[in-house]
Amino acid sequence: MTHISPALRRLRSEDARAVLDAFDSNPDMARQGEVSNLAEAESYVGNLIKPGSPHEAWAITVDSTLVGLMCVSVDEENRNGWFWYWMTDAARGRGWTAAAAATIAEWALGPRGLERLELGHRVNNPVSGAVARRAGFVQEGTECEKFLVDGQRVDVATYGRLRSDPSPSFEALQMVEA
Ligand SMILES: CC(C)(COP(=O)(O)OP(=O)(O)OC[C@H]1O[C@@H](n2cnc3c(N)ncnc32)[C@H](O)[C@@H]1OP(=O)(O)O)[C@@H](O)C(=O)NCCC(=O)NCCS
Repeated sequence: MTHISPALRRLRSEDARAVLDAFDSNPDMARQGEVSNLAEAESYVGNLIKPGSPHEAWAITVDSTLVGLMCVSVDEENRNGWFWYWMTDAARGRGWTAAAAATIAEWALGPRGLERLELGHRVNNPVSGAVARRAGFVQEGTECEKFLVDGQRVDVATYGRLRSDPSPSFEALQMVEA
């Protein structure tokens, strides 16, 4: 069987259709933003890639088609980055998000020049925490009852990774900068 290996490249406007497909793929994507038609997908992508945007948005691709997104929203003044990600339903459970997160975290704390990355995930979304730990993030705390979801208050686990933290062992994905 052929081994499929995803790659990373910069998000581009042509990815809007694939972004819409990803948002349609699972109801759990609803918390990632307002994308329920092509115009909203175009606006979502446009916001992430417009000149001067603080977002470093990378498409996780298979055969150049976007299947997931890895993004670092940069706070330049503090050299911090808010780290976030999603994967279309059909491509989940293969370790691709974890590999992409580890690859982008190394890049962000290396050539991109950031010194701290941070993220948060709802505690009832444990797979997101597994992705974060795989990418070398360490849990720093819990924001108790942070979100109100379907009438229930939900805790959020907060994670950080510093430039001085050890790198995890992982198989880096190929990154295409242009
Ligand atoms: C969270 C999300 C990105 C995970 O994507 P994924 O492609 O399935 O993740 P991976 O296949 O890379 O798996 C990562 C790890 O989670 C583990 N995992 C899978 N299901 C799990 C579960 N129910 N509980 C705990 N860990 C789990 C995997 O075993 C893997 O760990 P390992 O590498 O140590 O074996 C995906 O579910 C998603 O897009 N969800 C909707 C958006 C979202 O919640 N984004 C995060 C917001 S904070």
